[in-house]
This record gives sequence, C-alpha cells and structure tokens, in this order.
Amino acid sequence: MGHSANGNGSGPLKFLIYGRTGWIGGLLGKICESQGIDYTYGSGRLENRTSLENDIATIKPTHVFNAAGVTGRPNVDWCESHKVETIRTNVVGTLTLADVCRDKGLVMINYATGCIFEYDDKHPLGSGIGFKEEDTPNFTGSYYSKTKAMVEDLLKNYENVCTLRVRMPISSDLNNPRNFITKIARYEKVVNIPNSMTILDELLPISIEMAKRNLTGIWNFTNPGVVSHNEILEMYRDYINPNFTWKNFNLEEQAKVIVAPRSNNEMDGAKLKKEFPELLSIKESLIKYVFKPNQKTTAA
Ligand SMILES: NC(=O)c1ccc[n+]([C@@H]2O[C@H](COP(=O)([O-])OP(=O)(O)OC[C@H]3O[C@@H](n4cnc5c(N)ncnc54)[C@H](OP(=O)(O)O)[C@@H]3O)[C@@H](O)[C@H]2O)c1
Repeated sequence: MGHSANGNGSGPLKFLIYGRTGWIGGLLGKICESQGIDYTYGSGRLENRTSLENDIATIKPTHVFNAAGVTGRPNVDWCESHKVETIRTNVVGTLTLADVCRDKGLVMINYATGCIFEYDDKHPLGSGIGFKEEDTPNFTGSYYSKTKAMVEDLLKNYENVCTLRVRMPISSDLNNPRNFITKIARYEKVVNIPNSMTILDELLPISIEMAKRNLTGIWNFTNPGVVSHNEILEMYRDYINPNFTWKNFNLEEQAKVIVAPRSNNEMDGAKLKKEFPELLSIKESLIKYVFKPNQKTTAA
C-alpha cells in the first residue's frame, strides 16, 4: 500500500524525526547521516498539537518519523503506575501527530509494537503459525500493550500512517542496557521462549526505504522466524564470552519478579519479506549484524 500525497512531492527528502533522545530516534538520525538524508529532530511534544504544527511549518518535511513514546523506566512496569502519562504520549500524542500529518498530506512512519499478541490456540508456540498484520491483538496483559493496541486500531483509519510492529529490539551495541541481548545477559534468571524480534541494524534502514516508497498500513516489523532466549545466550557464549553461563526459570517464577505479564509470540513475516526479499531470518540477522561484528572468541 502506498500513499500518494506527500509534502514536497518529488523534491529532495527531508525527514522530521520525533524521539531525539531515544534509542530508535537516535539510531535513525545516524542512519540518515550515513545515507546523506537531510533530517531534523522535532522539538514539539506529541500531545501538543500547536508545537507539532510549528515544527512542520518550520521544517517543511517530506516524511515524519515517530520514534517518540513512553516505554517506561526501567521497564514497561512503570506504565502500570503511570497510566495518565502513558495515555498522554502513547495515545493522545501519537494520534495527534498522525492527525496533524494527515492534515498536511504527510506520511508518518510510526514505530509501534508487536507486543500486542500472545501465543494462543490458533497460533501455538512452536507451530510456525505467526500473527498476521490483519489479526486483532489478543494481549492486553500490560497497560503499555493495552494502550498500544488501542492506538493501532484507531490508526488503521489514517491512510497516511505506516505502523511498524517492532518487537524485542536488538542492536549491535551490546553495551546498551535497552538491547534485548544485553538485558537478558544481565538478568539473574531468564525464561526460555521462542519469539519474533527486530534487528534494528537491518530493519531501521528498511523503514527509511519504506518511507521513500511511501508505504502505509500495518507491517510486522520483525525478522522472519523466531529465536529463543537460550538460543541467543548460546550465541552470546559462543561469540562473545566463552565463560558465560545463565539460569532459566519458568513463567510462574518470572511472574513473581515483574508487575505486568509480558507477551510472547511469533509474527508472520511474509508481508515484509515480500516487499524486501533480501530480509534475513532472525538467526541469520543476529549473526551478521550483531554477533560477528562483536565477536571476541575464535570458537564460533
Ligand atoms: N525499546 C523497546 O523495547 C521497544 C519495543 C517495541 C516498540 N518500541 C516502540 O518504539 C518507540 C521508540 O522506542 P525507544 O526504545 O527508542 O524509546 P525510548 O528510548 O524510551 O525513547 C523515547 C523517546 O520518546 C520521547 N518522548 C517521550 N514522550 C514524548 C512526548 N510526549 N513528546 C515528544 N517526545 C516524547 C523521549 O524524549 P524525552 O526524553 O524528551 O521525553 C525519547 O526521545 C516507542 O513508541 C516504543 O513503544 C520500543
């Protein structure tokens, strides 16, 4: 699905990015620099319509990227006790930006989440049957996910929005505490469940290409296939630290150390793969973009 009306038409690209201080927003700026794409970070707050209109009037972007959102610190459990703040940015803010962009004829690339699904009878763990773009979210166990699912449903009505369902993002920066690999390597105990995940080093450049193609609609924005916690930690041991060990625990034990349940799922990657046939499977992408560039052992 492509969107025709777009800001400056066929002139040079100019990206307006929200989320300057954030993980994904920061990486997007670096990619634009490396690709020689003109970009500016938005200074407005998402829930303040006038500030967004001012940004657009000043910057005159061809595309808007929304990598702003509250994810909670140290984790999404924060949202359970900060519901209004979560609604303000993730619901009111995201919808306001989408609405302003629509008014101005601009495509908005929205970094959303795939943590709105959990394995169920029709998509059992290990079956290889993933959730498709058109499936209705079935995971509202955390307030963060609940609001993200609500917004996704509303954003479906905005023909200018490209919703990218990111999951358990991973980057080649293994020192970043937000990186899923770094997180699980530092936990005292980890569950072991196969999941779909997003390798940012491979997928964020693809999101820029999606903007260039003016793609809109919902996209499962994960590498095809699944990988489990233990499979990742085995790679970590083989490529990074041969002495690395870890302990597993089950979901019931995990529930005692977190406030809100977490989603585990497989996303169907066929739509993105069809648009970008070069897209690597999750395990290939982990090795190419994360473990090989960081390799410290000779064993693997
Ligand atoms: N990291 C994950 O595990 C993950 C997984 C799936 C999806 N996502 C989604 O991807 C998006 C980006 O994630 P991230 O990990 O890069 O987040 P992040 O590191 O927490 O950064 C969030 C960014 O949003 C900005 N922000 C927050 N509230 C704002 C508001 N009301 N107006 C304008 N800017 C605001 C923050 O700026 P200030 O510091 O100025 O507030 C910050 O720059 C989020 O929507 C998130 O839900 C993330």
